[in-house]
Amino acid sequence: MDITMLKKKFINRYGQSKEESGIYFAPGRVNLIGEHTDYNGGYVFPCAINFGTYLAIRKNNDNLVRMASMNFDYTAAVTPEEIQQKHEGQWVNYPLGVLNEFRKLGIAITGMDMLFYGNVPNGAGLSSSASIEIATALAINELYYAELDGIALAQLGQRAENLFVGVNCGIMDQFASAMGKKDSALFLDCNTLEYKIVPLNLNGYKLLITNTNKRRGLADSKYNERRSECEQAVEYIRKVKDIKLLGEITESEFYLIEKHIPDENVKKRARHVVTEIKRTVDAVEALNAGDLEKFGALMNGSHDSLRDDYEVTGPELDTLVEEARKVLGVIGSRMTGAGFGGCTVSLVDEKQVNTVIQKVGKNYTIRTGLKADFYVAGIGDGAKLIERF
Ligand code: GLA
Repeated sequence: MDITMLKKKFINRYGQSKEESGIYFAPGRVNLIGEHTDYNGGYVFPCAINFGTYLAIRKNNDNLVRMASMNFDYTAAVTPEEIQQKHEGQWVNYPLGVLNEFRKLGIAITGMDMLFYGNVPNGAGLSSSASIEIATALAINELYYAELDGIALAQLGQRAENLFVGVNCGIMDQFASAMGKKDSALFLDCNTLEYKIVPLNLNGYKLLITNTNKRRGLADSKYNERRSECEQAVEYIRKVKDIKLLGEITESEFYLIEKHIPDENVKKRARHVVTEIKRTVDAVEALNAGDLEKFGALMNGSHDSLRDDYEVTGPELDTLVEEARKVLGVIGSRMTGAGFGGCTVSLVDEKQVNTVIQKVGKNYTIRTGLKADFYVAGIGDGAKLIERF
């Protein structure tokens, strides 16, 4: 990203000022394994990527919070009192939701000039929205001396998305954006928020992200539907075991009590969750032991479970995964994020990356009529101040 360009556009739009300005960055994320486990109190294993959202920001004396983006035409200029009003269907709800959460903490938000620029593909399941939330949260935290730590910023971002934007997401995306570490993944227990930073020693392998370029229509309503199916599973299980979240039962316990779940769909959803939590623990163990083949096999198992039991993949994601697995040098391939479109992530021998791109790209277009985009993932740090000017 060309920071000079962002600064120039910021000054062009808002003019010069004596007030100090800052540029903040928060990344998107790719989840390696542990999908649809976060809101069930399970484990996830995401890493922050080099794509994200940049925010140029400074306080003004006009009592107006001005928001603009280099990616979208829509702009907003609201008084601090108007922060709590939603702008139906607009991107500004992400930063507004964050400002509103700071207000609830007693921070007196004043006028500000804000210009966003994002390079995470939108709606691709790489957490463009979490990156806007966390870039905003980090900037406000510093500008108003709120002194929240990274985990508190992630939680604040999640509340903004749940309460203001209205998407009932878990903590994974905001956590990865706020807390990510270069060349590492985060092994996070979403129940306790305890986490370990695990170095990604991929020894000659690369993480290849592939975008289906299928917009995730209906994703939010289907996402909320899956969440309520998990809650129903908990209700059934509570008749025999006192639990609050599916993550509290192990896979072997599940097979003993699954007969108490009469609804076949609900049973399948629960089976995905408990097996995925186990796969995530096993995958981190395999990675720590340097067993990449096993890690890849667990990624494959994750996708198959999301396809058959959780039913959140769809033809585009399944086609990409099938085609990737056919190519020599791909040792694991799965969907990443919420599903219903978006991206896959594959573990690929670095010498084969170009062949994979060429073969998968060609066959995907033949089979779906869509064109896939490929990115070799650079694993970067979590949110940070880039510079003051
Ligand atoms: C979305 C949500 C996350 C998580 C994933 C599925 O990315 O924002 O909280 O639930 O889907 O693992």
